Amino acid sequence: MTIRFDNRVAIVTGAGGGLGRAYALALAARGAKVVVNDLGGARDGSGSSLSAAQLVVDEITAAGGEAMANGASVSDEAAVEKMVAFVKERWGRIDILINNAGILRDKTFAKMTLDDFRQVVDVHLMGSVTCTKAVWEVMREQAYGRILMTTSSTGLYGNFGQANYGAAKLALVGLMKTLSLEGAKYNVKTNTIAPLAATRMTEDLMPPAMLEKMGPETVAPAALYLVSEEAPTNVVMNAGGGGFERAYVTLTRGIHVAPEDMTPETIAARFEEISDRKGEIVPDTGGAQGGMALGAL
Ligand code: NAI
Repeated sequence: MTIRFDNRVAIVTGAGGGLGRAYALALAARGAKVVVNDLGGARDGSGSSLSAAQLVVDEITAAGGEAMANGASVSDEAAVEKMVAFVKERWGRIDILINNAGILRDKTFAKMTLDDFRQVVDVHLMGSVTCTKAVWEVMREQAYGRILMTTSSTGLYGNFGQANYGAAKLALVGLMKTLSLEGAKYNVKTNTIAPLAATRMTEDLMPPAMLEKMGPETVAPAALYLVSEEAPTNVVMNAGGGGFERAYVTLTRGIHVAPEDMTPETIAARFEEISDRKGEIVPDTGGAQGGMALGAL
């Protein structure tokens, strides 16, 4: 089976460099028409320029592909709507959205200002919400859509100095979970990637020997699968340097006790049992998890 994207239209946000560029090039090489969106600012989100996106478009067209550059900020509702309307008019449909744009404002929580927090949430979380909202109706009407969120090991597992980023990144997993339920009837599938790659975001965080093996092109295969026709839905996949894993939010079997035992002392005494991972499961929905808890009564 060869995965192709002929006649598919893809928007990749933050595609002027790093991972987004790798996704855009890979999608175009396999037949997709690609919107290379990038605000073109610095790593902390300051400034803007269309030139980074245009360079990627030039690379795609030089290789015989089709692409357009767009400089909308992902969290600017009016600019995103304009981008979507333009793409719809020019190419007639939107099949794929990769929410990839991002910034960093790393500091310990003690030193982090609320503005540092809001800016990061605004780009990662609200940017993904804004772009997804703008294409959602288009995808429902087409009865075809593939959306990819970008989380991070920081969101899934935590990382010193990244409280704002971790909060925004795990929120995207929550967003995906509900969208994959709401989109199911319309063949709109939503997944999440947790990449690890050498980009300007990580160039000072990983040793050079590691960076060499972790080019963004090592993440692209997972991203492409997760937005392909064969895509699953509701999957969180970690990818980088040849490694591909899945992350799950699991639930332990826990304990179920009578009203007279519902005390903090019972919890303290049986905390190990509550935490025991033997037989843990992954509920399909929040409702299913609630139902299971009630069913055990
Ligand atoms: P990058 O800094 O090279 O790429 C991010 C791109 O987003 C930049 O080109 C930037 O101009 C663009 N951007 C920033 N704010 C924007 C806005 N408001 N509107 C439109 N574009 C905007 O970094 P990288 O590593 O390629 O990051 C891509 C995504 O992957 C980000 O969401 C990042 O958080 C995530 N990620 C990356 C990891 C890594 O190891 N590189 C690890 C975990 C997650």
